[in-house]
Amino acid sequence: MSSILNNDRKRIAIFASGNGSNLQAIIDYSKNIDINGDIVFVFSNNPDAFALERARNARINAECIPFDRNNSRIEFDNKILQTVKNKKIDLICLAGYMLLLSSDFISEYQNKIMNIHPSLLPSFKGVHGIRDAFDYGVKTTGVTVHFVDSELDNGPIILQEAVAVNEGETALDLEKKIHEAEHRLYPPALRHFCRDELRIIGRKVLIMERN
Ligand code: GRF
Repeated sequence: MSSILNNDRKRIAIFASGNGSNLQAIIDYSKNIDINGDIVFVFSNNPDAFALERARNARINAECIPFDRNNSRIEFDNKILQTVKNKKIDLICLAGYMLLLSSDFISEYQNKIMNIHPSLLPSFKGVHGIRDAFDYGVKTTGVTVHFVDSELDNGPIILQEAVAVNEGETALDLEKKIHEAEHRLYPPALRHFCRDELRIIGRKVLIMERN
């Protein structure tokens, strides 16, 4: 695909442990809109992740290293780190990746790892962001795309979208709306990164859109 920034296309890896609907949203978006990058690698720790099948259907190189609890996390992460380095990956996008990355991994790829979280951070961190917000009774929750640092769901925020919780809606209704918002929000965040439009100043991420 041609690009105004053609000589600087980014090589993107997506890490996913489950369904991979965000991976799919990124694949579909980049078919229609040039993000100045290519998804060249999908990684999963879960052999049953549907994300792996989505990658193969899109002819993207996909690999799974099942996490073996007898192995050390450091060794596991080092194996993945070596793989992404060999593949000259510029950007890693976590999309429902259910393992925490080691701090060594994160510092090697500092400000080059993104995550999508199903709440308006810093509220409702952790694996049950949608359910926790719903049970808390908030009227507005949402979705956050952020850079990954060494603390859980903590790094500088790139994009957020609010999602209303209307009276009478169930947790399932909310989950559906959150996923729709995720699929709208994550691909443009990648595009900003790949077009070198993001500037991180402390906790703030400025978006300098180019023509
Ligand atoms: C999403 O809700 C994302 O915010 C969270 O994990 C879920 C992954 O969903 N981090 P999918 O595998 O992309 O469908």
